[in-house]
Amino acid sequence: MKFLSEAKREDLKGKTVLLRIDSDVDLRKEGGKLVVDEDFRLRCSLPTIHFLRKNQVKKIILLGHLGRPEGKRVASLSLEPVANWFAQQLSSCPLFSLGETTPPDKLVMMENLRFWEGEEDNSPDFAQQLGKMGDVFVNDAFGVCHRAHASIVSLPKVLPSFLGIRVEGEVKALSWLKENAPAPLVFVIGGSKPGKVDYLPFLSEWADWLLVGGRLPALVKERKMKLAEDKVVLGKTNTEGKDINEKTIAKFKEVISLAKTIIWAGPMGVYEEKTNRKGTWEVARAIVANRGAFKVAGGGDTHRVLSWAGLWGEFNFVSVGGGAMLQFLRDGSLPGLQLTVK
Ligand code: 3PG
Repeated sequence: MKFLSEAKREDLKGKTVLLRIDSDVDLRKEGGKLVVDEDFRLRCSLPTIHFLRKNQVKKIILLGHLGRPEGKRVASLSLEPVANWFAQQLSSCPLFSLGETTPPDKLVMMENLRFWEGEEDNSPDFAQQLGKMGDVFVNDAFGVCHRAHASIVSLPKVLPSFLGIRVEGEVKALSWLKENAPAPLVFVIGGSKPGKVDYLPFLSEWADWLLVGGRLPALVKERKMKLAEDKVVLGKTNTEGKDINEKTIAKFKEVISLAKTIIWAGPMGVYEEKTNRKGTWEVARAIVANRGAFKVAGGGDTHRVLSWAGLWGEFNFVSVGGGAMLQFLRDGSLPGLQLTVK
């Protein structure tokens, strides 16, 4: 797919643009209302919005998802807090539902795409329904480009389409990393999403060391996966089973201190609980303490840890994606970046 930066003025001027963004962010309660807690992914969509406005588009319709509602309307996963965030940053941004009349404002947001089964089922009908709302599609949601969902792989078949400014930056940074990561290369992979274990065989082949925490070591054992034993350290848990234990922390710190490139995706335990945060914190500090290493991080939970620990400025590159970043590093492309998907 073409990058938006290559678009001509006539491709955009006066057009209604459907803009797919990474809106899967953490929320928190404030005064009884849900508000955006970690806004890195939302901030990443601002350059594309500014670019579209500069090119005099008529209207921008933001499309995004939040969590995994599995085709049902889940009130706590409404995109209302995200629409409010955009309203605060830019201008009014009313939220509407598919099938309702689109509000007249120049910036509007459609309710969580995953409230409709057609999104994750990659239904062509659902993509057609979305397509009817606009003239042009821009995908700026790198963090979801590994999913063959309707708003990612089918919308580009319905409308003239471009990849947004953030996606272009991600593709360029991660392509460089894939080709040039200085050795020794250490991956630190954690978190709770089971799908992440699928990337471990490749990562263990490529990396000099692969350090695995969070829920993943248990899943590796459950699935009886064979990983290169000389390079892979599967973290052992503390007595509660919710964080890596002291011995694992010490081993991870030792390996991290020897790296020239460190790629980190996912916390080491249930970091939201104070008593199970130590592994994640110590690993984050060890990464930052390796001053000479090229440091990359990615994924929603990792963004939150960077914010909580005040470590944003310490990384050479932070990807909006977790799974998407790992899959891009493995395959050199993603379903959402191509016009034809097998
Ligand atoms: C992410 O948080 O990695 C993206 O938003 C993708 O979410 P998913 O794993 O629920 O598809």
